[in-house]
Amino acid sequence: MCGIIGILSDYPVGDYLIEGLKRLEYRGYDSAGIAVLQDHKIQVLRTVGAVNKLEQSYAASPFVGNVGIAHTRWATHGGVSEKNAHPHLSCKGDVAVIHNGIIQNYSELRQRLQNNGHIFRSDTDTEVAAHLLEDELGSGKSLLQAAIAIAKELRGEYALVFMLKDFPDKMIAIRKSSPLLIGVGQNENIVSSDALAFLDKTNRAIFLEDESIAIIGKKDIEVYTFSGQRRKLHAIELAAEFSLPDKESYEHFTIKEIHEQPEVIAKVLEQEPGSFTLFRKEIERAKRIFIVAAGSSFHASLLGRSYLSEYAGIYSDVVLASEYKSVAKWFDDDCLILCVSQSGETMDVIEAAKTAKQNGATVISIVNRSPSTLEKTSDAVVRLNIGAEVGVAATKSFTAQAFLFYAVAKGNMQAHDAVELKGAMTEVLRHEAMIAKLSDIISRSKDVYYLGRGLNYAIALEGALKLKELAYMHAEGLAAGELKHGPLALIEKGTPLFLINPEDDTYEETLSNGVEVKSRGGMLIGLSTKPSVHYDFFVRLPEVRREFYPIVESIPLQLLAYYSAKVLNKDVDRPRNLAKSVTVK
Ligand code: AGP
Repeated sequence: MCGIIGILSDYPVGDYLIEGLKRLEYRGYDSAGIAVLQDHKIQVLRTVGAVNKLEQSYAASPFVGNVGIAHTRWATHGGVSEKNAHPHLSCKGDVAVIHNGIIQNYSELRQRLQNNGHIFRSDTDTEVAAHLLEDELGSGKSLLQAAIAIAKELRGEYALVFMLKDFPDKMIAIRKSSPLLIGVGQNENIVSSDALAFLDKTNRAIFLEDESIAIIGKKDIEVYTFSGQRRKLHAIELAAEFSLPDKESYEHFTIKEIHEQPEVIAKVLEQEPGSFTLFRKEIERAKRIFIVAAGSSFHASLLGRSYLSEYAGIYSDVVLASEYKSVAKWFDDDCLILCVSQSGETMDVIEAAKTAKQNGATVISIVNRSPSTLEKTSDAVVRLNIGAEVGVAATKSFTAQAFLFYAVAKGNMQAHDAVELKGAMTEVLRHEAMIAKLSDIISRSKDVYYLGRGLNYAIALEGALKLKELAYMHAEGLAAGELKHGPLALIEKGTPLFLINPEDDTYEETLSNGVEVKSRGGMLIGLSTKPSVHYDFFVRLPEVRREFYPIVESIPLQLLAYYSAKVLNKDVDRPRNLAKSVTVK
């Protein structure tokens, strides 16, 4: 995680760096910092909290300089504090570094550096890189030689950018696994974790290949492998999908994205016929299919598995990306790995894709953000085409992933499917005011449960995840039939339970499970096409074909989480401790 940006320019870079950080904030927002080379000295400012805190402090005493780096952090090693915010300096203050990733062997390196007299000022893994570079340059090595030496020392995954007092017209960037790219401008170059940081300056970008070292000047860029071989440079023109998102009249990106769903669902069908056909062909060819994903993408994949089973007659397994190693021995050339990731940057998914490729399996990724590390690692990619999702909570990407799975399982892209879904999504959004009121009641509860059966089970899991991450409330999604195998003991008088129960083949059984909860004093909130005397509250679902119910049901639960978070005064777009892209393991 973490967002990093560095720039060499003809103009002062301070304000620009802060603006760039704001666009990278989705990668982490525990603390932020900036370093600018001013009057032959590296000046550093760091603050705890989101980038606006840094912006306020910086405005009070800005730096003047044409070279600088900046960072927005998602803490891994070292607590959330000013001293652990990046950039970090070497002992003499000659080297400043920003980092995204994890340096696994930092403890031993730190010990060695301390034994050699280096003084550490933070608890981070990152700081070792600044001290190491200071030593390497101090021993007379060139920038490239010093960078190669560091790359040999560091274990883990990292994108590092160094600014150097004694080399004011150069920066060093080192990439291993974590994404890093360079925006090629007019007399200025910008290195960052994401093109969003520099799109307003240039749409020409060089994506650094894995295990690359870049020596970056204002007008020149040289890229090398870790063994010092010069790499050929390919600058590509970035597509319009990189345009900067706008909240428009909405209070938060999350609610804007919830409301966008009826409009964007049809975009999922805008696939190149070739990629869709290949996807279908591979599904039919493979002897084994594993769907690999995390979080909401995992929940959409559970639905995907059911769709593939029911409509394509194909068995697949869904694996949590962080647990892929338990099945990796089955990844071989008979195997298809479907990697599902909104960001295309989730480290665990990327690692699974790499392992699968090494073992000869075919990898197809389903992504939204593009280009992404995941799609570069895959044999083929299918995009959701729904525009940037900024809110940390997945909303429109979840429904789009589910719909894409449905279309693939059916084997065709039917525009009328999207029209039917659009109508139902629009209708269910009309309950917004009622759900906002319901959130007042729900947000006072200690625990909230979600129950669903069959296709609706994935929505129980997803509904609970939304409430956890947005409102910081304890919530659990359960398969309806599992209730009496333990969780029923948790039901007390007034415990809210959302019964996700459209009139499909699971209706009667699920209603019985709801009644069991009601009989024990629980508060029953029915999400259904049909009212019931057992429901304390009722959210009416529009009638759609059975396979679309889960997609439609997810919307009231997104709204519930959003309004509960608002009632509880939480930071809806940027929930604490989370980040939009999880680029560490
Ligand atoms: C969802 O609301 C979460 N913020 C999170 O679980 C997310 O779905 C997960 O981190 C996977 O992200 P990806 O789709 O970008 O791989």
